[in-house]
Amino acid sequence: MKLALIGYGNVGRALARLLRQKRRQFPFKITGIHTLRHGTAIDPRGLAEDPPMGPRAASIEAFLDAAQAQIAVELTTLNPSTGEPAIAHIRAAFARGMHVVTANKGPVAHCYAELREEAARAGVKFRFESAVMDGAPIFNLWRHTMPGVNVLGFTGALNSTSKIVIETMERGGSFEDGLAEARRLGITEADGTFDIEGWDSAAKTAALANVLMDARTTPQEVSTRGIARLTPERVQELKSKGKAVRLISRGKRTASRLSLRVRAEVLDRADILACTPGTSNIILFHTDLMGTFGTISLDPQVEQTAYGVFSDLVSLLLP
Ligand SMILES: NC(=O)c1ccc[n+]([C@@H]2O[C@H](COP(=O)([O-])OP(=O)(O)OC[C@H]3O[C@@H](n4cnc5c(N)ncnc54)[C@H](OP(=O)(O)O)[C@@H]3O)[C@@H](O)[C@H]2O)c1
Repeated sequence: MKLALIGYGNVGRALARLLRQKRRQFPFKITGIHTLRHGTAIDPRGLAEDPPMGPRAASIEAFLDAAQAQIAVELTTLNPSTGEPAIAHIRAAFARGMHVVTANKGPVAHCYAELREEAARAGVKFRFESAVMDGAPIFNLWRHTMPGVNVLGFTGALNSTSKIVIETMERGGSFEDGLAEARRLGITEADGTFDIEGWDSAAKTAALANVLMDARTTPQEVSTRGIARLTPERVQELKSKGKAVRLISRGKRTASRLSLRVRAEVLDRADILACTPGTSNIILFHTDLMGTFGTISLDPQVEQTAYGVFSDLVSLLLP
């Protein structure tokens, strides 16, 4: 299977390394790489490792036509307020009969139902495991292993940057020290305020609700407050009382409506939602038949995001 990569930053490069590592067992071939400022590389026979980049293709359509791939892998920067231009990239791929795999939560958060239906009409598949919690199984868990179970709600600590900032302040550092540490770890969105003001969590909350609860919502409809007003003094005072602050996403269906919110919540330090350290994430699903259960990912790195994309690619090979 030939792949056209749209975006070649942290995740794109980690994916290329993983594909090289597994090439004997899974012979995927990258035939095109398209970026914003670094240009475009294309060879329908397969690109070499870290190929030289030429001039940028005139349009996404021109790039996809030239790459002659069966799968478009959308790995561009998150735009939480519109999901663009990733949505347009995905539609251009569907229009060419290409499957799409993405780690970008914007499209799933903004128009999952439409994209799912457009993919079905085009006879192609649309996969996005890494959009929430990197490669830890969430969407594919539901797709493959939970027949008959309805999701009534979910609770998650899904944003690593806010946790790094809070833990830095607990140790006596400043808010800015925490943000710098998150940047150093390469886990912050290109615009760090998306993490701090809760937009990253709101996009993940909308994506989860759209896929697992057929919500047809957007990040703007998630009631969101980030951690921007937290101070080291407040965080340390709470710590001395056995408490911890975490940015928590909650989704819940009541008889009349779906409630979606993101808040910096004060939790007991022993609360399972407060127990995942560093960049670790946790989600709990509240269901009708399986009670509450969840997924934890301990200290995921960009390699785990790349694995989520890889697992989606492999799933496209399955009947
Ligand atoms: N990093 C993680 O651990 C992680 C985890 C889960 C999900 N994600 C998601 O994965 C996606 C990629 O993340 P990343 O960390 O790899 O981002 P990144 O390092 O900032 O790379 C983004 C890439 O997209 C390219 N790009 C941006 N706008 C474009 C456009 N309009 N057309 C073509 N290319 C465009 C950039 O081009 P230039 O190189 O020319 O700037 C760059 O190559 C994001 O949506 C992010 O939310 C990331």
